[in-house]
Amino acid sequence: MAKNILVTGGAGYIGSHTVLQLLLGGYRTVVVDNLDNSSDISIKRVKELAGEFGNNLSFYQVDLRDKPALEKIFSETKFDAVIHFAGLKAVGESVEKPLLYYDNNLIGTIALLEVMSAHGCKNLVFSSSATVYGWPKVVPCTEEFPLCAANPYGRTKLFIEEICCDIHRSDSEWKIILLRYFNPVGAHPSGHIGEDPRGIPNNLMPFVQQVAVARRPALTVFGNDYNTVDGTGVRDYIHVVDLADGHIAALRKLSDRSIGCEVYNLGTGKGTSVLEMVSAFEKASGKKIPLVMAGRRPGDAEIVYASTEKAERELNWKSKYGIEEMCRDQWNWASKNPYGYGSPETNHS
Ligand code: NAD
Ligand code: UFG
Repeated sequence: MAKNILVTGGAGYIGSHTVLQLLLGGYRTVVVDNLDNSSDISIKRVKELAGEFGNNLSFYQVDLRDKPALEKIFSETKFDAVIHFAGLKAVGESVEKPLLYYDNNLIGTIALLEVMSAHGCKNLVFSSSATVYGWPKVVPCTEEFPLCAANPYGRTKLFIEEICCDIHRSDSEWKIILLRYFNPVGAHPSGHIGEDPRGIPNNLMPFVQQVAVARRPALTVFGNDYNTVDGTGVRDYIHVVDLADGHIAALRKLSDRSIGCEVYNLGTGKGTSVLEMVSAFEKASGKKIPLVMAGRRPGDAEIVYASTEKAERELNWKSKYGIEEMCRDQWNWASKNPYGYGSPETNHS
């Protein structure tokens, strides 16, 4: 029998790519998303890309904090596991509006966990972030590193990780996998789904992409005096399809008899500087990205990349794609959808 998976935040960037991989892997998938930071067009496109498997996808426009609506969904389907992406993720906004972030991310998660528990669904994969490593003193980051949070967004990730561990301690039937993502970029190779941030992008590659399609004049490089290969910040960029596959590996791991509450990094283990990434994107797109050098962005770390050993060993998962493929697929998505899922008229940024 095909397994039923609930995906919260499944209309979003990482969620939509994961839902597609789930469908293609033969899972029946229910998406819950309030569309606060996404469009239902992504759901329609995922359905199309999944071909005959598209019939195994259903979508509910529901906010996680709406417990009666969640209850109804759980009473209609018996879920084998939940993959929980839904949350707000803009670091700067979280500093300005901490209560919004605590309300949405924490209350939403608590509501979800309560409803899961009430319906006997105790298998969870949660989207955490490399942000919990703060400013690592050495790299690569292993899962045992000390954790810290630099902003309210990061604190919601830390708190939810702790909540998950506490739940498992209180009830050993729970099996929970916390996935710490590094820097997801790129898009599905079809170019039909990808990242579509609202407003001014916070992250490097969505910004580069908008410069390439002439929506913005230049990329501001935040700092070129770091102790790195060319002075710019170094990160572990990971193709979103690799990341999506990491979730399928995590689901398989949940079938192990007793995994408890385990944490895994999902990254490539390779560091790439801002200038190296821009140059790879210019090569892939044939577009020149004008640069404006600026000071460091407050809160930014110098070098962050993952140790991938634990995920390789225990999830039997390893990234396949390099930065060339990430940039190729990012450009394919951008050139086919210069305004994401919207149009110049619907875009107010
Ligand atoms: P996204 O914004 O594209 O997707 C999140 C989705 O959750 C959106 O579709 C949004 O509408 C939905 N959502 C938010 N709050 C909700 C609520 N209360 N109820 C129902 N739906 C809600 O973001 P993404 O990049 O796909 O990130 C997915 C998850 O991964 C997030 O939890 C994020 O914090 C985490 N993460 C992302 C990155 C990254 O760089 N993209 C890095 C590390 C961790
Ligand atoms: N950068 C620029 N210009 C920009 C945007 C970014 O130079 O316009 C630089 C940053 O200074 C950094 C690198 O590009 O050196 C990557 O920046 P991102 O904002 O794309 O990624 P971060 O690693 O800083 O943070 C992201 C998410 C966090 C998450 C973290 C790890 O924003 O929420 O990845 O997953 F925690």
